[in-house]
Amino acid sequence: MAFNLTMPGRTIIGKDAFNDSLPFIKEMGNKALIVTGKIITKNGLTSQIQQKLESQGISSAVFNDLPGEPDDKMILSAVEAYRTENCNFIIGLGGGTPLDTAKAVSAMSVLNGELIDYAGKEIKGNFPPLVLIPTTAGTGSEATKFFVYTDTKTDAKLLMKGDALLPSLSVVDYSYTLSAPRGITVATGMDALTHAVEAYTSKKANALTDFYCLDAIERIFKMLPLAAKDASNKEARESLALAAYESGVAINNSSVTIVHGMSRPIGALFHVPHGISNAMLITECLKFALDGAKTRFAEIARRIGTANAADSDDAAGEKFISALESLTKELEIPTLREYGIDLAKFEQLEPKMAKDALASGSPSNTRKAVSEADILKIYKNLREK
Ligand SMILES: [Fe+2]
Repeated sequence: MAFNLTMPGRTIIGKDAFNDSLPFIKEMGNKALIVTGKIITKNGLTSQIQQKLESQGISSAVFNDLPGEPDDKMILSAVEAYRTENCNFIIGLGGGTPLDTAKAVSAMSVLNGELIDYAGKEIKGNFPPLVLIPTTAGTGSEATKFFVYTDTKTDAKLLMKGDALLPSLSVVDYSYTLSAPRGITVATGMDALTHAVEAYTSKKANALTDFYCLDAIERIFKMLPLAAKDASNKEARESLALAAYESGVAINNSSVTIVHGMSRPIGALFHVPHGISNAMLITECLKFALDGAKTRFAEIARRIGTANAADSDDAAGEKFISALESLTKELEIPTLREYGIDLAKFEQLEPKMAKDALASGSPSNTRKAVSEADILKIYKNLREK
């Protein structure tokens, strides 16, 4: 079977990547809407980017009114800003929220109707150029054709997709991640690890995504504890920024599986940050998934050095689970109880969460059949920790 790899139009990655991007950005237009966050604006990165654009004769307007994760109203206001400011291309600068919003703005600046009309469909069109610049190492949004937003009429979190949402240019400079505090570093790093492990053990994995996944997993296991201990560790930050991008390419072309499927309902109902709910779930979910993809889990264990060629696949797979347990312990990932979740409410909502998890379609990409009962059991194990 042939497979198909889609990526951003161009990627510039490394220190001072934005400077090297300017000749390409210059071709995109003469006025950018910069979709970003208030903290990034306050810490001066937005004005730094604006000055560099200005030096090339490119003017810009800033939209940073993003009080939470993207919803239809925020996206609509940003599209309005794009139009009234007469911009001709879009720059997303920040974590997952500004990057996802920037993708939505680029699509909705052209498409008719409302965002919800495009839910469940492949979003197509000829959209304005889109530049994505991450300031966290995790979501991989800079390398994907997806964005997530909340429809405020129904409170549903929707995953939107289409090759036309891939950025024209992805600019990854690890030095922008140096100011991320420990909590964000851990949450986003665990999100990226979950992407890479799920994409590697998904039914949709292929030879090219495997390459990205294994490299990302190796980097994150080695470097995330170092960046968590010392935010200014440049080598760790550089490696994690690359790993997050690789993990983005991996889910863009393979898929997530059971962990993300079960994580989204926890995020939606209990407002646990996405990377943390993934990290709470990953060990329990992969213990379940282990015997469906023994060889693949064993290969991961050998790659990160927790097992060697002499270990059987069974032994190596178990060693991978132990390595995950140690990593989440070292990073102080809280249990549901430690996070302060109302466990009685959690138990009451487990049937709904299990249904929502299955309905998302992600669990069915796991290399093992996943039933509602399996999911309920994992939620129960999590609650009883
Ligand atoms: Fe994720």
